[in-house]
Amino acid sequence: MTDTAGPVVTSDAPIIAADPIPTPLAPPPDILRCAYMELVVTDLAASRNFYVDVLGLVVTEEDEDAVYLRSLEEFIHHNLVLRKGSVAAVAAFSYRVRSPEELDRAVAFYTELGCRVERRAEGFTRGIGDSVRVTDPLGFPYEFFYDVDHVERLAWRYDLHTPGALVRLDHFNQVTPDVPRAVKFMEDLGFRVTEDIQDAEGTTYAAWMRRKPTVHDTAMTGGDGPRMHHVAFATHEKHNIIAICDKLGALRLSDHIERGPGRHGVSNAFYLYLRDPDGHRVEIYTQDYYTGDPDNPVVTWDVHDNQRRDWWGNPVVPSWYTEASLVLDLDGNPQPVAARTDTSEMAVTIGADGFSYTRPEDDADDLPSWKQGEYKLGHQL
Ligand SMILES: [Fe+2]
Repeated sequence: MTDTAGPVVTSDAPIIAADPIPTPLAPPPDILRCAYMELVVTDLAASRNFYVDVLGLVVTEEDEDAVYLRSLEEFIHHNLVLRKGSVAAVAAFSYRVRSPEELDRAVAFYTELGCRVERRAEGFTRGIGDSVRVTDPLGFPYEFFYDVDHVERLAWRYDLHTPGALVRLDHFNQVTPDVPRAVKFMEDLGFRVTEDIQDAEGTTYAAWMRRKPTVHDTAMTGGDGPRMHHVAFATHEKHNIIAICDKLGALRLSDHIERGPGRHGVSNAFYLYLRDPDGHRVEIYTQDYYTGDPDNPVVTWDVHDNQRRDWWGNPVVPSWYTEASLVLDLDGNPQPVAARTDTSEMAVTIGADGFSYTRPEDDADDLPSWKQGEYKLGHQL
């Protein structure tokens, strides 16, 4: 890192793993995109109300135990499964692959790594056929599929669109203790880093990685893990996000808003973070940028830059750093959570040892009192 007024742009991700997972000899499956998340919820009716009646996701199918939801531009069966269960958690981060043959590659790739691998010709959920589920080397439940029922793409059904219409699944975000180790593994799986957050000592706090040509399909956030930080849906425009905030206010549900709305530094996207009835975090996201060229530059942000997570310098609430959802193993049991050993982003930006700046040449105390945000909060805790 060098001290500049903005993030550093390089040709490759400057992330080195000290304790890498060995690269398999078997090639990885060719992943198209993040496709859906299976969420275990403790009150199916309350979750259905939140995702359908408040956020406007479309019910493709439902029964007593599960609701299958999709966004308005989607043509595959679902982008989100709400499944009733006793412990709120994530059962699967699911990715679509380019062809049915890619499932054989997924089996070989994860088997060589010694992971538990389960393949079901009939699929794990309604609407999806032959699928592979694994517990990956980082402890996350990953799924791969190609065969899926097509459903009506509702892009032109403006009679069904609400002012806050959710049009696509955009990305996942995972919490993991060792970000460089996770990034190296995801690069072996065929992902490419688009942006990251580091400090001058080389500690990596988070990294964003893509398959489809957007800023990310998933991100690795440093923290106690494996846990799920959030799942993100896209809107067309910034005003759609404002409309969601207005609706939550009108319904006296504003306590579902955890952070934002605002503009991210990382990704340049406009954002809003919500918490669902179980506390699962959902991001509403719009207008990041194209990343599809093979030499797409990597953007590295200084962890002390208070515009990295919010371009306007608004503080990040502590719950956003510390709280996340459990993830399940293939038997449905919560995965044990391991503590992060590297310094935490919250500790180095707020609290007695933390600082943030708007201009890197300023002293930390130069930040005006009304804008100290993360820094000032540290003195209050
Ligand atoms: Fe996100």
